[in-house]
Amino acid sequence: MKGQFIAVEGLGGSGKTSVLDRMEAQLQQANVPYIRTREPGGTFAAEYLRKLCREGIPDNPGKLDPMTVALLFNAARAENIKDVIKPALQAGKVVLCDRFCDSTFAFQQEAGLKQLLNIHLAAHGDFFPDLTFLLDGDPAIFQKRITPEEMARDQFDSMAMDKLNTARLNFVNLTKYRIHDGSYVLVNAEVNQDQVYAQVLPGLMSVIDFMKKRPKTGV
Ligand code: TMP
Repeated sequence: MKGQFIAVEGLGGSGKTSVLDRMEAQLQQANVPYIRTREPGGTFAAEYLRKLCREGIPDNPGKLDPMTVALLFNAARAENIKDVIKPALQAGKVVLCDRFCDSTFAFQQEAGLKQLLNIHLAAHGDFFPDLTFLLDGDPAIFQKRITPEEMARDQFDSMAMDKLNTARLNFVNLTKYRIHDGSYVLVNAEVNQDQVYAQVLPGLMSVIDFMKKRPKTGV
């Protein structure tokens, strides 16, 4: 039995959480087995690394090299893949993941896209989401949706506007130039939640159809 791996990507404030909540409700309604996880995170060790990734090292006098940061995210990812994502897929479940490798490719691109892809292949092999929704929009609009408390907790959410615009462009280019073989859906996330979800639903329904039709035994 093989499940389906869905990632939801986007800048902070793009509305990933509400999209994921609705996707969960849809899967429950359709009686499709699923799990929800997030990156960085998903396991005890990866959640520990999450704090380090988002907040940096306390009292560190210098700035971490983008490659160091990329390796930390990949370390957390290795844990999540091994303990959470792959077991769920092997058990025939849908995996909903709040962020995955495209976040590294977009946010840590200063480390070099080719190098980041090579790190991914070395650490996780040719393992990519089957379907990725990218919630795209103007970072200035998204930032208004983030509370100051959230912003203070996340060094990426509080990035300068030019860096957020670069990250946005990086994300869009990943979908345009297809960095991996999985499908991408580019979603306009500047509109209201119902309108955003309407763009997600067709892709999710095709996964639900696939899950309903797939043979119940064998891989
Ligand atoms: P979030 O999941 O609450 O948005 O927090 C995760 C933060 O970490 C977010 O600002 C994006 C950033 N991030 C990266 O920079 N690279 C990555 O590979 C991942 C998964 C997240």
